[in-house]
Amino acid sequence: MKKQTIITFILAIIAFSLPSANATKKQDKEMDRFISSLMKRMTLEEKIGQLSQCSEGYATGPDNSRISRAPLVSEGKIGSMLNVSGATETRKFQEAAMQSRLGIPLIFGMDVIHGFRTGFPIPLGEAASFDLDAIEMSARCSAREAAAAGLHWTFAPMVDVSWDARWGRVMEGAGEDPFYGAKVAAARVRGLQGDNLADTATIMACIKHFGGYGAPMAGKDYNSVDMSMGQFANFYMPPYKAGADAGAATFMSAFNDFNNIPCTGNTFLLRDLLKNKWGFDGFVVSDWGSVEEMINHRYAADHADAALKAITAGLDMEMVSECYTDNLARLVKDGKVSMKLIDDAVRRILEQKYRLGLFDDPYRYCDENREKEIINSRQSHDEARHVAQRSIVLLKNQYDILPLSTDIRKVALVGPLAKSQRDMCGSWTCAYTNTAVTLYDALKSRGLEVDYNDGYDIDSNNISNLGQTLASARNADVVIVAMGERASDTGEMASKGDISISADQQRLVSELVKTGKPVIVLLMCGRPVIFNQVREEAPAILCTWWLGTEAGNAICDVLWGDYNPSGKLPVSFPAHNGQLPLNYQYKSTGRPTAKGGWCTTYRDIPTAPAYPFGYGLSYTTFSYSEPNVTPSAKPGEYAVVTVDVTNTGKRPGEEVVQLYVRDEVASVTRPIKELKGFEKIALAPGETRTVTFPITDAQLGFYDNDMKYRVEKGDFTFMVGTDSSSLKSVKFTL
Ligand code: GLC
Repeated sequence: MKKQTIITFILAIIAFSLPSANATKKQDKEMDRFISSLMKRMTLEEKIGQLSQCSEGYATGPDNSRISRAPLVSEGKIGSMLNVSGATETRKFQEAAMQSRLGIPLIFGMDVIHGFRTGFPIPLGEAASFDLDAIEMSARCSAREAAAAGLHWTFAPMVDVSWDARWGRVMEGAGEDPFYGAKVAAARVRGLQGDNLADTATIMACIKHFGGYGAPMAGKDYNSVDMSMGQFANFYMPPYKAGADAGAATFMSAFNDFNNIPCTGNTFLLRDLLKNKWGFDGFVVSDWGSVEEMINHRYAADHADAALKAITAGLDMEMVSECYTDNLARLVKDGKVSMKLIDDAVRRILEQKYRLGLFDDPYRYCDENREKEIINSRQSHDEARHVAQRSIVLLKNQYDILPLSTDIRKVALVGPLAKSQRDMCGSWTCAYTNTAVTLYDALKSRGLEVDYNDGYDIDSNNISNLGQTLASARNADVVIVAMGERASDTGEMASKGDISISADQQRLVSELVKTGKPVIVLLMCGRPVIFNQVREEAPAILCTWWLGTEAGNAICDVLWGDYNPSGKLPVSFPAHNGQLPLNYQYKSTGRPTAKGGWCTTYRDIPTAPAYPFGYGLSYTTFSYSEPNVTPSAKPGEYAVVTVDVTNTGKRPGEEVVQLYVRDEVASVTRPIKELKGFEKIALAPGETRTVTFPITDAQLGFYDNDMKYRVEKGDFTFMVGTDSSSLKSVKFTL
């Protein structure tokens, strides 16, 4: 293209984009004018009201017998409510807010974590899809339904990296990898917020729990988090930053202390890093009662001290506890808290209310007709099934038992989880706990003859009716066992010291395998679990997590090959509890492999995980060429890694091609490998695709102990493959 043409082309792009940039600037100016004028008219009490959020409906934390503060809404003393939903219900409280002196609208928030009325897979299950489009689709559907139910805000995505499957909330995030977690965080923010918060199909996102909540000592929920700044920056910080960079409207401070300061009063996290260094212009809400809980931390002496420390640190809105309501005015009058701090917090909150369009029309989200049309729609169910199919991970498929033949007529179905609508939805369900299609329902709807037996008691886990269950198996074409834990075994306040599947459940599978019938084990869980006996003895195993409303249908789609499973584990599965916390990005240490036991290993349990991060099989097979690396002249790109991937089987299938990087020598100790790229590709039988990974600062850099991002010259190893342990490598020197 001639130089002049290029210049004209570039000028055209600038000219074209100018109006939208101008429009944004104009909108912001109008917003500033409106909010400044409103704030000039607000009393100190009304400003403090905007900083207070109360809960109505169900409690998602210790209720401490709080009395309802709904009556304060019409006095302008509440700025937000959580756990209220429904066009009619939210309209009722909004009408009360409109009666206040200045009529500042409420914002309604709720934990729409993986679906509102149509349930999607638990976030950890969705993460197994390694399909960012599917993950964004899920968030978009959640937002569409939540907004139709009068909500403006979800306390999601939870982006806490976790290496410890004893922690029950591992189900709520994207697993153990910070690079992947950052991609998922951004996808979820895009899906929830779209590009216009005033759109009645979008809602505010909330990046939580800031920070480091996924690394509680001993895997115990709410426990202390103690790590170096380098560890935080390299392994836990990236998803939070990605959420901020994606434009998340809000953040939530975490319950835990972080380097000896409760997150809710942690100036380094909330003000220095989030608001100043990252330029975050949204607002920060506390977690449930976490302002007041600084007294329990023995960091605040009383409620007034807690309010002082929280507002000083940059905590804008107090969820549920009443430290701000009861103490901020006095603290201001005593000169202990400047109006500047109050005004900054109030402005941040009012700006989001403005962006939501609530000052134009406070009832824009309270439309009963739209609620009926949008919620639980066919579109929602189709999307839920699409995402659920892609979240399933094939762990084992001996003798190609799967996919099942359409000749199969008689199924022996075993395990109460196969019939449990409640458990099929997982933890952190919003309003859809009993709408799931169970595995039993789905099998019946395919016209199969299903002989069901509990096989084990869902609560005691003891084997029941073994003889009858075995007879049923002997009389069937195939045995399908729903094995696992209850949905309530993961989620908040669900840390467990032993994440093994019960011995009786495993013994039952063993007995079923001895019948000689083909046995398919469906692992239903919200966390990595330990099931070594079944792992050895069962010929076919699918990890189905908790898949939500379309669970049964999605599982059957995979069992019969209507969808070829493509999921990959976003978390390592341990072989023993003693391996926890466990992750694949461990450091070499000074004795990685010294002979004679002089190395980092155990005497009594295996060191290797049961299944590594990134692991997942398909009904077809794939082969990888040796990777190539070629220097690149493109600005900002050091090199390009390429690899040819071939579908060597007889079925079309999808493969998540993964790139890992090792910095051979650096100024701080670095992991033996880190995920720095992935691409999910679909290949027909016999088809080969060249997959390309750009190598930029993002692939080579790291944070030093002063949290400065660095790229150092030297030797690197690039590794590509189907999971974090099956890799081919190539050297590169920067
Ligand atoms: C809970 C959770 C948090 C949730 C909040 C409101 O305790 O920690 O993730 O968003 O309270 O329900």
